[in-house]
Amino acid sequence: MDKFVIDGGIPLQGAVEISGSKNAALPIMAACLLAPGEYRLENVPLLRDVRTMAHLLRIIGAKVELRDGILWVDTSRADFPEAPYELVKTMRASIYVLGPLLARFGKARVSLPGGCAWGPRPVNLHLKGMEALGARLDLEQGYINARAKKLEGAAIKLDVSSVGATGNIMMAATLAGGITTIENAAEEPEIVNLAEFLKAMGAKISGIGTRILSIEGVPELQPANFRVIPDRIEAGTFLVAGIITGGRVTIRGCVPDHLRDVLAKLEQAGAKIYRESDSITAQTAGPIHPTDVTTAVYPGYPTDMQAQWIALMSLAAGGSVVTDVIYPDRFTHVPELQRLGADIVMKGNSAYIRGVQRLKGAPVMSTDLRASASLVLASLAAEGQSDVLRVYHIDRGYQEIEKKLQILGARIRREDDGKLY
Ligand code: EPZ
Repeated sequence: MDKFVIDGGIPLQGAVEISGSKNAALPIMAACLLAPGEYRLENVPLLRDVRTMAHLLRIIGAKVELRDGILWVDTSRADFPEAPYELVKTMRASIYVLGPLLARFGKARVSLPGGCAWGPRPVNLHLKGMEALGARLDLEQGYINARAKKLEGAAIKLDVSSVGATGNIMMAATLAGGITTIENAAEEPEIVNLAEFLKAMGAKISGIGTRILSIEGVPELQPANFRVIPDRIEAGTFLVAGIITGGRVTIRGCVPDHLRDVLAKLEQAGAKIYRESDSITAQTAGPIHPTDVTTAVYPGYPTDMQAQWIALMSLAAGGSVVTDVIYPDRFTHVPELQRLGADIVMKGNSAYIRGVQRLKGAPVMSTDLRASASLVLASLAAEGQSDVLRVYHIDRGYQEIEKKLQILGARIRREDDGKLY
């Protein structure tokens, strides 16, 4: 199993290219099931989760190929509307095939995702949404069996502004009879990108990027070619890498607007931020100022950048508090950061961080995607060597992160630790 060996203490310098967004690519790939035919998708990141979604689409009967950096998806022969437990348990986003399968085939058998590394992640809003569109659902052997001769538009109000439920319901509603409205819809850029893709396929959607989406169902959609947006979380992670190591990092091929709140926090923490149309430079300018963060739905501070912020605040000149209201249990990285010498006390869904002078290298264990990113950042800043174990977690959401960090001067290498688990 792979691990990263990191010799820390080197200020990162230079520029890296940001890859396509994992959280936009996954629902866009699932949406290709809505209309039979061939799709040409650009800027799809080469990640483990993308391979998992490709594998799921193949099980359903699609052809998926990566040629010259372009992902080709052909769903002409897709005819097996099922998402097996073996795959869904490795990637919750597999649930995104539920809406498209139900809309195209009138039936779907999709495994419930089950637990997650850091606590409960229900899909009740996805299911309630499908029922509101007229589907009959039953649970058997851990599988959702969904059926609907014809989905019918409905007025749906989400209790929580869920990214996944918004995407799934929006996809199903594109082929439903009449109009569907989704109130308290997610405004995340990934959902906007998905909606733009559906419109390119011929869907009728208004209110994109607002809390109220309106989808007028159409009899059929057509395949389309499309470009996935850059990954704002990968972008934010590299900016924090520059500041936590006392360096200067430029990220290219990003959308600065998608990072508004993260950039504002970095400036509060004392970084100098330079924005261009599609690039951002973060420059260290003195000590790291303690800066509190509370996560929120977009355009607030993303929960997917919470762990990285705790790593940064571990070296701040004073105390700060980081609270996660989206995932109150998402703190499995804290005990590992403490192994590197961070001074953090947990109270409920808040981490109370007292900045220390320096972190010290140690072996640490990744537990999930963003937790592993925070361990890599802290290890890059720490004195001495760290071994970050189980980096298969980070490969789920960062394309060749060690190669990009090496471009910035980091002393990091991937090694097989010879362990099976
Ligand atoms: C998406 O997950 C992202 N994943 C997550 O990123 C991200 O953390 C999350 O949105 C929030 O921004 C993908 O896009 C593949 P939600 P999703 O539905 O859709 C509750 C990463 O690191 N909820 O917006 O699963 C839920 O428990 C991943 O890349 C329900 O109660 O998130 C949570 O508290 C991790 N019932 C809140 O809503 C539901 O049916 C937000 O979840 C659905 C969600």
